[in-house]
Amino acid sequence: MSATVPSATSGTPATLTEPASASSGPAGLNVVILAAGQGKRMASDLPKVLHPIAGRPMLGHVLDAARALDPSTLVVVVGHGADEVRRWLERDAGGEVETVLQSPQLGTGHAVRQAAAWLDPTSHTLVLYGDVPLVLPHTLEALVEAGCARRLALLTARLSDPTGYGRIVRNADGAVTAIVEHKDATPEQRRIHEVNSGILCVETAFLLGALDRLGADNAQAEYYLTDIVADAVANGITVGAHLVSDPGETAGVNSKRELASAERVVQQRRANALLDAGVTLLDPARLDVRGTLDCGRDVTIDVGCVFEGLVSLGDGVTIGPYCVIRNATFADGSSAAAFSHIDGGTDLTKPVTIGRDADVGPFVRIRPGTTLADHVHIGNFVEVKNAQIGAGSKAGHLSYLGDATIGERVNIGAGTITCNYDGAGKHRTVIEDDVFVGSDTQLVAPVTVQRGATLGAGTTLTRTAPAGALTVSRVRQTTIPGWQRPVRKPGT
Ligand code: UD1
Ligand code: CA
Repeated sequence: MSATVPSATSGTPATLTEPASASSGPAGLNVVILAAGQGKRMASDLPKVLHPIAGRPMLGHVLDAARALDPSTLVVVVGHGADEVRRWLERDAGGEVETVLQSPQLGTGHAVRQAAAWLDPTSHTLVLYGDVPLVLPHTLEALVEAGCARRLALLTARLSDPTGYGRIVRNADGAVTAIVEHKDATPEQRRIHEVNSGILCVETAFLLGALDRLGADNAQAEYYLTDIVADAVANGITVGAHLVSDPGETAGVNSKRELASAERVVQQRRANALLDAGVTLLDPARLDVRGTLDCGRDVTIDVGCVFEGLVSLGDGVTIGPYCVIRNATFADGSSAAAFSHIDGGTDLTKPVTIGRDADVGPFVRIRPGTTLADHVHIGNFVEVKNAQIGAGSKAGHLSYLGDATIGERVNIGAGTITCNYDGAGKHRTVIEDDVFVGSDTQLVAPVTVQRGATLGAGTTLTRTAPAGALTVSRVRQTTIPGWQRPVRKPGT
């Protein structure tokens, strides 16, 4: 039994073993994701939709939610930073996605129009905004259901501060008549608290006609997608409005402040999912999961930890405060004490592995390519890189173990250094089972310490240390009896 907090946009507080479960949507659904805008208010060179939330570009969160509906067509409209967005979509978006270029960017209605050729006119179209990343699949499912029952349905939210959003205008009977953008709204309309999320589900044939009829006579001189609402009403179509129960889901991200709020929402969802699955979090507000965190039973995570990439914690694992852990697997009963930095690099198929009942930290740095077997102990201020360390071996203090193969039951004294680099290439150090390495030893690689050997403290090892023997390379200690320290003469 395990709890996984996936990188997919998922707020389902449950025991999850894979990303947001796919549900088979209605037969034939077009999904268009708008991702062409510049995002001026981010004050950044990075295209807005590539700004990460929980370590994944916000466009990725929208894609995850869209894919959960199992659409028959999925198109992303790109424009500003199109090359960069396409590169990300090709490399890291986790599956094929159609893109269509909008150039120049003349508004959200103009953006959807660029995707017209991709849309199956016989089914409905769900429009998602690349900068509305927190929406959950079940909310979209409900909207699509409502949208398919009529010709146009909007996802709306009631906000205490609706500034910046398009307002939902209703008539005396409460029927939706239009969406008015904040910039175009009268003071009276600005007092409306029901806002447009940007997300809507519409009959495609109507959508295509309405897009052709759009004008750009507004404050921003843009073709607003939102104007299809008034167009629908003018054509006798009743517009449905599906009010989202948690307005946090439809928050738009237009600025770094809004990005930071969205990050907190996603982290809170992840923390809740972990708590619900039985993980102990000393403070759910001080946990950051920027990838996938998979936990067994009775896992405890102290405050201030950051998990990146793919991290798996077995039963009974304890993570102390302020640990940074990327791409790593902890076996049952293992632990990391405060301030441990465990970095398995970026290749998710080669995590750092920490064996059963092994313990690391505080203040360790474990780097890519490292494997610690069961019951290994790595103590404070030890750096381990590309090293395989056998069961029961210990390096308690202040050492560098790089490019090393270390056997079982080996004791590494304080201040031991593998000199793995000669200025041109890296070389391996091999330390066989049951070796005792005295403190302040340098092992000049390539070099081997044979089974059961002992290295005296202070040794600089340049040749093989034979099995079972003591090898020591320091100057013999001498004592000069009666030695007088020089004394400074008075007045000099
Ligand atoms: C939009 C809505 C507003 C709604 C709000 C919700 C319109 C006209 N307004 O306003 O009613 O309350 O979202 O967050 O739709 N985009 C393109 N091409 C363009 C312009 C925009 O692809 O030419 C994309 C952007 O990348 C973004 C999305 O469309 O992902 C929304 O555009 P943005 O300019 O942020 O609209 P808002 O002013 O937030
Ligand atoms: Ca926006």
